Amino acid sequence: MNHDTIDALLQKINDSATSEGNPRTKAIVNRVVRDLFHTIEDLDVTPDEFWTALNFLTETGKRGEFGLIAAGLGFEHFLDLRLDEAEQKAGMEGGTPRTIEGPLYVAGAPESDGHARIDDGTDPGQTLVMRGRVLGDDGKPLAHALVEVWHANHLGSYSYFDASQPAFNLRGSIRADAQGRYSFRSVVPVGYSVPPGGKTEQLLDQLGRHGHRPAHIHFFVSSPGYRKLTTQINIEDDPYLWDDFAFATRDGLVPELKKAEGAQGEPYGVTGNFALIDFDFTLSRERGDVPTTQVQRARAAA
Ligand code: DHB
Ligand code: FE
Repeated sequence: MNHDTIDALLQKINDSATSEGNPRTKAIVNRVVRDLFHTIEDLDVTPDEFWTALNFLTETGKRGEFGLIAAGLGFEHFLDLRLDEAEQKAGMEGGTPRTIEGPLYVAGAPESDGHARIDDGTDPGQTLVMRGRVLGDDGKPLAHALVEVWHANHLGSYSYFDASQPAFNLRGSIRADAQGRYSFRSVVPVGYSVPPGGKTEQLLDQLGRHGHRPAHIHFFVSSPGYRKLTTQINIEDDPYLWDDFAFATRDGLVPELKKAEGAQGEPYGVTGNFALIDFDFTLSRERGDVPTTQVQRARAAA
């Protein structure tokens, strides 16, 4: 079909509006529909293919997998890169790199002062202590900043989404002390893979791609007057470190996993050998001329 004929149809659809509606929604939907009409035409998409895709999307929604697909198709990383660019254009530099939130945060984790143990003692993984400070972009500590942390267990599963784990297992909210210091005790996570037999896996198979993420730990770090940081750190040496299906690994987010033992564990109630990560988070001051990092999205809460 001629592109002019397609555009005439699009115009007819657009002209059928009898009230203003929401101009922003209209602009976006009209653009997406136009792009899809042209895709169908240019790639000669058959009716079978169209309805297969529609059914795929329906099933994806029913299984709650759209958040995974957004990560796996690179949309979530793309949004990060757009925020990075907006900050660069506004002359901002420094600060801990952001990286994707992913779909597995749960609001409402118990809050602790300064330090928290976030594993329940049943995970066979190696004991981990992670500690550091929250700093402003002037290098000064941010007293009482909030560090929210969440990660997967030794099977790559997240509590809440994996009902076999206790509530808020491997999740915590740590209020840094007056010197901006935080620490937590947990276990070293392993990598995550998209749910077997799910729609994300089915799509990735069709694309000839895997659905693995390297072992990682998620953070929200916030302090009044500063831009909320959404980020992750990776466990070094993971085979998928630079082959993440969600494209979230970034320079500056792969701290050394140190070997520690003995008296080093005392402040955290750890005996014997353990893994230690030292990592400071640096936040940028809030400003009015760059898009906010306080992103609204549907999140689980318990
Ligand atoms: C996905 C899983 C994660 O653990 C994560 O951090 C990001 C994305 C996912 O399945 O898409
Ligand atoms: Fe994750």
